[in-house]
Amino acid sequence: MRAQTSQPVHEIIATRRSPRSLDGTAKIEEADLLAILEAGRWAPSANNGQPWRFIVARPGDESFEKMMEVLNPTNASWAKNSLAFIFTLGKTTNQNGEPYADYQFDCGLAVAQMSFEIHHRGFVAHQMAGYDKVKAREAFEIPADLVPLVIVAIGKQDSPEKLEGALFERETAARVRKPMDELVISGI
Ligand SMILES: Cc1cc2nc3c(=O)[nH]c(=O)nc-3n(C[C@H](O)[C@H](O)[C@H](O)COP(=O)(O)O)c2cc1C
Repeated sequence: MRAQTSQPVHEIIATRRSPRSLDGTAKIEEADLLAILEAGRWAPSANNGQPWRFIVARPGDESFEKMMEVLNPTNASWAKNSLAFIFTLGKTTNQNGEPYADYQFDCGLAVAQMSFEIHHRGFVAHQMAGYDKVKAREAFEIPADLVPLVIVAIGKQDSPEKLEGALFERETAARVRKPMDELVISGI
């Protein structure tokens, strides 16, 4: 469903959303995945520190199964039809080994850029923080200086009718945002 924006904005911003009805029979080419990762790679970051790290998994990969095992049951119920997962990790130290204060902010920008590229290519992105981070750290042997952030599901959108119950309701609900005057504290 297209967002009811108060002003005209870029088409991808107006039409991007995080659906859960995904067509598991669709395919994604490696070239698409590489371009999506490239979009993330070129995100801006504090001091060009680039603290994002990615673990990519496709159905059939052992790592895809591991991600399915760490997702919470509701996420797993729809994300099983993803064409790929990009597990995004953040590096907590900078080039000098000092604490990287803004690593989560920077990683969010990288994921945003990937999500725009995903939608531009006719797929959909759905970020998930609903997974067991302790289990994920063990399963992927994530070193101490990397923090598990989001698992990004990439899929091909399917019809809402393929979902049931609460997931169907959420898929078809009106899309809402806080009013602008709550967000812009002063200046306009
Ligand atoms: C950091 C982050 C974590 C999220 N985690 C989940 C999740 O675990 N499960 C889920 O179904 N959606 C998750 N979402 C999706 C949000 O619910 C969704 O972006 C929000 O409701 C706005 O909807 P829209 O993206 O369709 O505009 C997450 C989004 C973000 C940015």
